[in-house]
Amino acid sequence: MKWRSKLVCLLMPVIAVAHPVSSDAPACATCHLEARCQPATSMGHALETAEESKVLSTHPLLTFKNGSYLYRIERKGGQSLYSVRNGNQTLTMPIRWAMGASSAIGQTYILEKDGQLYESRVSYFSELKRLGLTMGAQESAPTNIVDAAGRLMGRDDKLRCFGCHATNAAQGRQLTLGELTPGIQCERCHGPAQKHLAGMADGASNPVKMKHLSAMSTEQVSNFCGQCHRTWEEIILLGRLDITDLRFQPYRLAGSKCYDADDPRVSCLACHDPHQEVDTHTSDYDAKCQACHDGGKPRATACKVAANNCVSCHMPKIELPGAHHKFSDHRIRIVKANEPFPA
Ligand code: HEC
Ligand code: HEC
Ligand code: HEC
Ligand code: HEC
Ligand code: HEC
Ligand code: HEC
Ligand code: HEC
Repeated sequence: MKWRSKLVCLLMPVIAVAHPVSSDAPACATCHLEARCQPATSMGHALETAEESKVLSTHPLLTFKNGSYLYRIERKGGQSLYSVRNGNQTLTMPIRWAMGASSAIGQTYILEKDGQLYESRVSYFSELKRLGLTMGAQESAPTNIVDAAGRLMGRDDKLRCFGCHATNAAQGRQLTLGELTPGIQCERCHGPAQKHLAGMADGASNPVKMKHLSAMSTEQVSNFCGQCHRTWEEIILLGRLDITDLRFQPYRLAGSKCYDADDPRVSCLACHDPHQEVDTHTSDYDAKCQACHDGGKPRATACKVAANNCVSCHMPKIELPGAHHKFSDHRIRIVKANEPFPA
């Protein structure tokens, strides 16, 4: 870890406060600094139980109207009830999980009815500070009250959503929702911890190691993060190149002239520490750009326009329709006024 990251982690308060849900991190914190800060990140909170969701606990009542449907999310003790009303018909379901961190872009709710899970048709958006239609929901009109509440999640859906937002939610193709730990925890990236922990506790001479992740090439890192943030191959194969790829950073970055599959200076890890919340100080990224654009290197030239805050012009924040959020375009480039989005 870089000294600055170490300092931030050292100053983190007691871990249990940051993450009340069961996780292995407290067991790692005695030996690894990463464990003091990672659980509080939005990746660490990519899935929350209804009980721990700050959005739900700080909004005792949320309402939304769409056509003739009236939505309410009401807090009762540590639980939240989601209901839809249409005329004199009402359907109420408990919220099992909130997908998306309370501290980040927004949350979609996972509802339960008769042992089945549904993805809520309305979501909370941090930018709006209220409910709105879930991204993609605008494309269809509900024909009955169950449809209006949410979308029934099939097996593949559950495998995919929980696979990207939780830890130990599946073993192979077998869902293990009863055993999952919400959010992206150590084991989701570094593999099973039990033997490593046991070996460390026994003082074994050659303890079992966790997956070592700092020796990957730039392209390997992109693919590793791309398991969830999507790889460029995945986007190309989807064949739908439009503004919706804005949020798929591995794809956007690979399309930039700055990208070099073998150069560690343009790896996701050059700019991000996955154990910490993303750094929002624009000027902190200048040194990352100047590692290549210092004017002296034979290939990469320097900027004639400005000497700092590089990302404010070359990685602009662009609004993604329906997401109520601006994403930083990872296709680093010269942005021309009024240009169409370069998909
Ligand atoms: C008692 C101290 C201790 C605890 C507790 C502990 N580790 Fe470790 N861990 C170590 C030591 C020492 C190493 C270095 C081993 C080596 O390089 O041979 C290590 C190495 C690692 C590595 C790097 C592997 C590599 O090859 O670079 C990871 C990742 C890791 N631990 C994760 C974890 C996680 C996750 C937990 C909690 C589930 C955890 N550790 C708990 C002491 C501990
Ligand atoms: C297992 C899936 C998974 C992997 C692997 C993964 N991420 Fe994430 N990441 C997520 C999810 C899900 C979110 C959204 C969190 C939220 O807002 O709920 C996220 C959010 C983020 C954010 C935004 C955090 C913020 O402050 O808004 C950054 C930055 C990030 N990831 C970087 C990385 C990097 C770099 C890697 C690779 C080292 C990586 N991620 C690997 C799932 C993953
Ligand atoms: C989103 C994926 C992700 C999660 C979650 C995650 N790590 Fe890491 N970890 C990485 C990556 C990637 C590296 C390599 C970082 C680098 O080279 O800059 C790393 C590096 C490390 C290292 C240094 C040894 C090595 O593998 O390079 C330790 C120790 C470590 N992590 C511990 C933890 C602990 C403890 C947790 C849980 C509290 C955790 N990590 C959670 C992705 C993750
Ligand atoms: C391939 C991995 C993957 C799958 C599958 C996935 N997500 Fe995500 N999700 C992410 C990542 C990564 C982010 C972080 C935001 C970003 O950078 O796009 C995210 C962000 C979110 C957010 C935050 C708000 C937003 O729009 O960014 C919500 C809510 C969300 N996902 C819900 C879901 C639900 C519900 C499902 C299943 C229907 C799902 N996700 C499936 C990876 C995934
Ligand atoms: C040259 C630096 C740089 C590299 C390389 C880089 N990022 Fe970023 N990333 C940024 C900046 C700058 C932001 C915006 C920070 C802020 O919110 O102000 C950002 C934001 C993000 C976010 C938050 C959502 C968004 O789009 O605004 C995610 C997720 C993310 N990066 C993932 C990745 C992944 C995955 C990789 C590797 C494929 C990567 N980044 C490579 C600089 C970089
Ligand atoms: C790994 C080295 C590397 C890093 C890191 C890097 N670049 Fe580049 N960049 C290049 C190369 C190589 C080119 C293509 C040759 C040239 O135009 O100088 C380029 C081209 C550019 C261009 C011109 C693109 C065009 O459309 O013609 C801009 C603007 C740029 N980089 C800005 C940035 C900014 C801002 C950052 C930091 C966020 C950054 N670069 C990080 C290597 C890098
Ligand atoms: C105020 C907006 C702005 C900021 C801030 C900015 N640039 Fe630029 N940059 C531009 C514009 C506009 C151009 C295109 C200039 C032209 O074509 O005459 C450019 C051109 C470039 C080029 C291409 C140079 C060439 O001759 O091919 C690179 C590389 C670059 N910038 C890197 C950077 C870096 C690194 C930083 C931060 C140290 C930075 N820029 C800060 C607006 C900006």
